[in-house]
Amino acid sequence: MSEFPASESPAAAPASAAAPSPAEPRAPRTEDGSARPVTPGSQAAEGTYRTQPVSFVRRGTRLQGRRQQAWNEHSDTLAVDVPRHIADTSVHPDYVFDAEAEFGRVAPLVVEIGSGLGDAVVHAAKENPDKDFLAVEVYTPGLAQTIQKIVAAQLNNVRVVQANAPEVLSTMLPAGSVSQVWVFFPDPWHKTKHNKRRMVKDTFAPLVARVLAPGGVWRLATDWSTYAEQIRDVGVASEDFVNVHDGERTGAQSPLTKARLSGVDCEQSDEPDMVGGWAPRFDGRILTSFENKAHKAGRVIFDLTFRRN
Ligand SMILES: C[S@@+](CC[C@H](N)C(=O)[O-])C[C@H]1O[C@@H](n2cnc3c(N)ncnc32)[C@H](O)[C@@H]1O
Repeated sequence: MSEFPASESPAAAPASAAAPSPAEPRAPRTEDGSARPVTPGSQAAEGTYRTQPVSFVRRGTRLQGRRQQAWNEHSDTLAVDVPRHIADTSVHPDYVFDAEAEFGRVAPLVVEIGSGLGDAVVHAAKENPDKDFLAVEVYTPGLAQTIQKIVAAQLNNVRVVQANAPEVLSTMLPAGSVSQVWVFFPDPWHKTKHNKRRMVKDTFAPLVARVLAPGGVWRLATDWSTYAEQIRDVGVASEDFVNVHDGERTGAQSPLTKARLSGVDCEQSDEPDMVGGWAPRFDGRILTSFENKAHKAGRVIFDLTFRRN
């Protein structure tokens, strides 16, 4: 589910993390269904945001070495200081992000949700000095590594925020203030019983629609065919979005047809996908280590692009 090495994976609980007592809220389960301790005081420990289960199991908040140093030296300027609400990745609903004050200019704002180790957002910020970028992530080592990359590239057009994405979208960002939202390889939660923890679902689309300016673009990618179909359905069902590539890449051209034929992550079948709606690979999306692993495992990559009405 994650591209992180086992030693630093969000699924690798620190030895000191205490298991919740039966009196505490029920800990979220991992994809294999096992209950593992989560970071006390974190939103994952809380388990929900409003009535929604959170889409992450957050662990491994400790930093070491260069990551710790980068965080100590640069988080003041590069990490948005967010007033918290119910937990340490929660955003107080009264807090509103002021991009102009933060970046010292007015520029199109691109928001990457689940930015991982920061490869995509840092690359894009280098390539697009005329745009500002906000990386939204809950995973502390990933944020620290992103900060290291921002510093190494001497960029002043990227900020990170440690926060649960639905809260960033529902209250923290002003309505209509964003030109693009990116969600690349969201955690798949591929077992049917865990599908409800997927981030991109019908309740998520209105949050993205809220922050996007009219004509703004929502780009997504996934390497799970059932998630790809779910994302396509979410876009079609939303009155706020049109699928920029509606009807494109059907039959043999469809990545879904390819996934079905290979049976790599779904039941093998020769039923062609005649619906299509898949985007070409977004050329601003670099190959991350996560996607690289997906390729090596023979997985099919799905890109989708929706435009805000
Ligand atoms: C599978 S990784 C993909 C990382 C990166 N986009 C890439 O392509 O390499 C998914 C990331 O989403 C983050 N994530 C999951 N749910 C989140 C949430 N509700 N808010 C912010 N980040 C979240 C996870 O911590 C993880 O780093």
